[in-house]
Amino acid sequence: MVFGNADKALSQLQNFAGHIHHFDTDSLRLRPFKDSDFDLSLPFYRDPELLNAMEGKPLDAPVTVDYLRRASKSMARQGFLFAVVEKASDRTIGEACLQWMNLERAIIDNEKTMRMPLGIWDRSLWGKGYGTEVVRYLMAFAFGELDIDRLCAMDVSADNYRSLALWSSCGMTISKELDNGKAFDLEISRVKYESMT
Ligand SMILES: CC(C)(COP(=O)(O)OP(=O)(O)OC[C@H]1O[C@@H](n2cnc3c(N)ncnc32)[C@H](O)[C@@H]1OP(=O)(O)O)[C@@H](O)C(=O)NCCC(=O)NCCS
Repeated sequence: MVFGNADKALSQLQNFAGHIHHFDTDSLRLRPFKDSDFDLSLPFYRDPELLNAMEGKPLDAPVTVDYLRRASKSMARQGFLFAVVEKASDRTIGEACLQWMNLERAIIDNEKTMRMPLGIWDRSLWGKGYGTEVVRYLMAFAFGELDIDRLCAMDVSADNYRSLALWSSCGMTISKELDNGKAFDLEISRVKYESMT
């Protein structure tokens, strides 16, 4: 009994995401992001392409676990932060978040809007369809269960071809051009989503 309580307390402490949703897709499991996942992600954040895509800018100092934890805090507080686990290897390979919109430029009165930061950490796993699997699943959850009106991908760099291809293959279109075409916001409305399903 004492051990049971200790285990529960430990798993609550480790649950950085603070939610309890677990999902299974064909090849992946999505589970609440844990504190220990930052250690797993750190080596991959030394890849400048991943870092720039996720943070939107180069950093002044090397990335640390503390930096990643601080950077992820608002995602965890403002939505549902998931670790992405590859079923075949049982390895944690990325992160995805359904986050309530926190940028003024995309907030619309009386609409429930979310954004979806996403990263598959290990570039050797890019292009296998994992990103698409995550987005399609979380999109269905957001429109179907959370009853949102609009889902957005914010600040996607114009040279991030994979990301742009991913969002547009999932039905998103460009809603705003930023920084003279160096980046874009994309979105899909409930009406468009429902017309596709
Ligand atoms: C963007 C990212 C999440 C995509 O995940 P992924 O698992 O590689 O994506 P998928 O394999 O599902 O492929 C997504 C699309 O990219 C296309 N794609 C794959 N390789 C490509 C390449 N070299 N160039 C252009 N497009 C490519 C795929 O064809 C697919 O489009 P389609 O459905 O129209 O065919 C992943 O590459 C990543 O984590 N990148 C770094 C972080 C990042 O950019 N996050 C998004 C920030 S907005």
